[in-house]
Amino acid sequence: MAGQWSGAGATRSRQTGRPAAAALALLTLLTCCVRCAEPTGIKPSNIILILADDQDVELGGMTPMKKTKALIGDAGATFVNAFTVTPLCCPSRSSILTGQYPHNHEVRNNSLSGNCSSSLWQKGPESEAFPIYLNKQKYQTFFAGKYLNQYGKKDGGDVSHVPPGWDQWHALVGNSQYYNYTLSVNGKEEKHGDSYEKDYFTDLITNRSLHFLDDRSPQHPFFLMLSPPAPHSPWTAAPQYQKEFNTVKAPRDGSFDKPGKDKHWLLRQPVNPMPNSSLNFLDDAFRKRWQTLLSVDDMVETLLKKLESIKELNNTYIFYTSDNGYHTGSSLKHRPCSHHSGHLRGQPVCREHGRPVLPPPDGSLSA
Ligand SMILES: *[C@@H]1O[C@H](CO)[C@@H](O)[C@H](O)[C@H]1NC(C)=O
Ligand SMILES: *[C@@H]1O[C@H](CO)[C@@H](O)[C@H](O)[C@H]1NC(C)=O
Ligand SMILES: *[C@@H]1O[C@H](CO)[C@@H](O)[C@H](O)[C@H]1NC(C)=O
Ligand SMILES: *[C@@H]1O[C@H](CO)[C@@H](O)[C@H](O)[C@H]1NC(C)=O
Ligand SMILES: *[C@@H]1O[C@H](CO)[C@@H](O)[C@H](O)[C@H]1NC(C)=O
Ligand SMILES: *[C@@H]1O[C@H](CO)[C@@H](O)[C@H](O)[C@H]1NC(C)=O
Repeated sequence: MAGQWSGAGATRSRQTGRPAAAALALLTLLTCCVRCAEPTGIKPSNIILILADDQDVELGGMTPMKKTKALIGDAGATFVNAFTVTPLCCPSRSSILTGQYPHNHEVRNNSLSGNCSSSLWQKGPESEAFPIYLNKQKYQTFFAGKYLNQYGKKDGGDVSHVPPGWDQWHALVGNSQYYNYTLSVNGKEEKHGDSYEKDYFTDLITNRSLHFLDDRSPQHPFFLMLSPPAPHSPWTAAPQYQKEFNTVKAPRDGSFDKPGKDKHWLLRQPVNPMPNSSLNFLDDAFRKRWQTLLSVDDMVETLLKKLESIKELNNTYIFYTSDNGYHTGSSLKHRPCSHHSGHLRGQPVCREHGRPVLPPPDGSLSA
């Protein structure tokens, strides 16, 4: 498994001449889940990867997720020095899928012309992405949620393109949405409206993953990748959560609303001090982001209960992370995907029941 991955990396890493091993700590761990179990003949561990969209840690992005912190972080390990390869959705997600740095997978930005889900990406890096190797090891693989920002668009092979390696595929067309979205369900278009009970996307991802677990074959391990839209804009919370965090405001510390006159050109752009309308907008965005995360917190709890009921909890690695961070008001007003250090921290949490999950002592997880 590891050998296959390194091989793939080595042939593609022209610039560096070595596999982009440090690029994705997760892949190292995923590899271990599979490899460690094999020689003994025990069934390899199941793996669940939950990938949030634009969730920060620096501004308290994990604060509303009390259940996730208790069930995964506190019961397992938190990687406080993990950084995303780049704080831009599509290149970062492409790195998660391939284990390659952006200069190797050559996805430059969130546009088709920058290789985001382009046909060259599909012919190249995507055809060597890690689900393929898990699938070859008899993992039953399931994807639900946002994939890559341009996925499913006409110029990128539309919804009929299902990336190799996935047994079950429920992927969002385009960028994060909560309602009124289109999915590719195993290559067929499926349109959704805005009924909370039928369509709320975070809940739909949870529900479909439960069905997959019911239908799976217990003889073989499974891999689930769940990629909810939260807490990305348009920040549409579930109805029962829309009044939460009423008094919460975007944190005013650090570089919040600080003049950037002597800084990099990007930091000199915002009006300073910010007008009240901007401050109100930021506080509102901050609250709504937290509200949307409550449904993701429910997702984690529901999944763990399910694993317990099907007796797989003690043989499943669960990873929780984000493609990149975010900021509300710190120097750049509000932007999801800027190249500023505060955004790089994804801080994954990981749990595997019964066995300690620790970062390797050589520090290779703090890439
Ligand atoms: C994305 O990258 C391509 C290739 O470098 C470039 O032509 C295009 O303008 C970029 N798009 C955006 C929105 O930056
Ligand atoms: C897109 O990726 C391909 C390789 O998959 C590369 O040849 C091409 O230069 C990349 N395009 C851009 C704009 O970087
Ligand atoms: C969904 O689309 C319908 C029809 O265009 C529109 O009336 C409704 O407001 C949309 N709902 C949301 C949550 O955007
Ligand atoms: C998800 O399942 C729950 C429990 O069966 C149900 O109440 C809810 O309406 C479902 N939501 C979606 C979006 O499928
Ligand atoms: C902005 O809000 C502050 C505090 O709420 C208030 O004191 C101030 O007068 C407001 N400024 C404007 C221009 O409305
Ligand atoms: C998990 O627990 C079940 C009983 O609940 C046991 O049979 C199984 O061997 C355990 N698996 C591992 C990997 O510990």
